[in-house]
Amino acid sequence: MSKKKATIVTYGCQMNVNETAKIKKILEENGYEMTDDIHDTDAVFLNTCTVRAGAAGRIEGKLGNLKTIKNARKTKMIIGVTGCVAQEEKEYILERAPHVDIVIGNQNISQLPDIMKKILAGEAEHVVLTNKEDELPPRIDANFGEGILASVVINYGCNNFCTYCIVPYVRGRERSVPMKDIVEDVRKYIKKGYKEILLLGQNVNSYGRDFDNSDEVNFAKLLEEICQIEGDYWIRYVSPHPKDLTLDVLEVAAKYPEKIARNLHLPAQSGSTKMLKAMNRKYTREDYLNLIEQIRKSLPNISLTTDIIVGFPGETEKDFLETMDLIRDVKYENAYMFMYSIREGTPAATMEEQISEEIKKSRLQRLIEVQNENAKEYSLSFLGKTVKVLVEGPSHRNNEKMTGRTSENKVVIFEGDISLKGTFVDVKIVKAKTWTLYGELI
Ligand code: 5AD
Ligand code: SF4
Repeated sequence: MSKKKATIVTYGCQMNVNETAKIKKILEENGYEMTDDIHDTDAVFLNTCTVRAGAAGRIEGKLGNLKTIKNARKTKMIIGVTGCVAQEEKEYILERAPHVDIVIGNQNISQLPDIMKKILAGEAEHVVLTNKEDELPPRIDANFGEGILASVVINYGCNNFCTYCIVPYVRGRERSVPMKDIVEDVRKYIKKGYKEILLLGQNVNSYGRDFDNSDEVNFAKLLEEICQIEGDYWIRYVSPHPKDLTLDVLEVAAKYPEKIARNLHLPAQSGSTKMLKAMNRKYTREDYLNLIEQIRKSLPNISLTTDIIVGFPGETEKDFLETMDLIRDVKYENAYMFMYSIREGTPAATMEEQISEEIKKSRLQRLIEVQNENAKEYSLSFLGKTVKVLVEGPSHRNNEKMTGRTSENKVVIFEGDISLKGTFVDVKIVKAKTWTLYGELI
């Protein structure tokens, strides 16, 4: 008998990519073969995101699409919803989409095989399992596939309650994973051949604060501990919160320049102190800029990336111009820029002075233009330099070329052989476009 097939469609952030890798491993261990073809599969899971309205909307569309496929099939097709929409809407998903069989929170994914068996045996029609997110999810092995990147979650949940953000409501309070488990997992993935290890948390800098011995365990110590692992690899982490990024973390990054990648994602959200206050970010424009100065002093060649929200309730043209200024001053390598999007249940959703879609769109456009200039300027600064590149494999656009990234996270395309995949090579940059560098292997 041929193997049953399963498909996972992943939306949203790296946390979901990590959870997909875990679900994949669970399904494979239970006899499923993974496929990307939703038209020929026995089980489809949508691993969902609800951080912005658009992300949640796309999932509704996909569920409609799956209903048609499911109805046309002769054999049973399981449809499951995991991730943040599952956690947020729970059984209400079934009201709008009764063709969904399983709604399961990330706390419970290890129970998937049992639930699927029950559904296939007709012992249950629908299963909704979304326990409150207040415990540490069980430690589960993950399958990160053929690539070079593996991720390890260091803390779950968020205690910050930024006023626009739904995450603290769906992912619960901060819970840190024991240091020993994290170090073991990183060691395991390095041993398996992964070269880039991404440490994940909503707020990585509050790692360990929920432990009884929180004086002894913190993010800097964790980084230092991980850097003791032998091997050729580098570590990245997302995301630190500017209010919690401490100097000891910068010191560790300076001490291990080969092991900790030269890129820092530091979400600013806005350049206006008034907006930052309304967002409950707990830092001012000046605090943020001082921190950037500290970072540049400790780690002179680091590239910076950020998240920005435009059109938060009450944002005036003046506030927005302060964000434009910030983007111009800091010269981020990359910025993820979003229009504010109402999330029901968060304080900002009911704030007065909501900004029109038209203004949001125009501000976003103006910001993108400035950032594109920055990105181009940054790319050009690599011209003629020789950089160390971690090779990821053949380029999507041109299979004959290889693609990789520098420690600063710049994409580099160069002529090379597939055997270089997963190795660190030196490349001389001969051409620079806004997002991509082109070079020659040395
Ligand atoms: N509207 C727009 N952007 C949001 N983000 C989080 N919540 C919202 C929202 N309601 C953005 C923030 C965060 C990133 C992951 O998503 O910039 O850093
Ligand atoms: Fe959301 Fe703020 Fe927590 Fe990040 S720190 S997950 S933006 S509440």
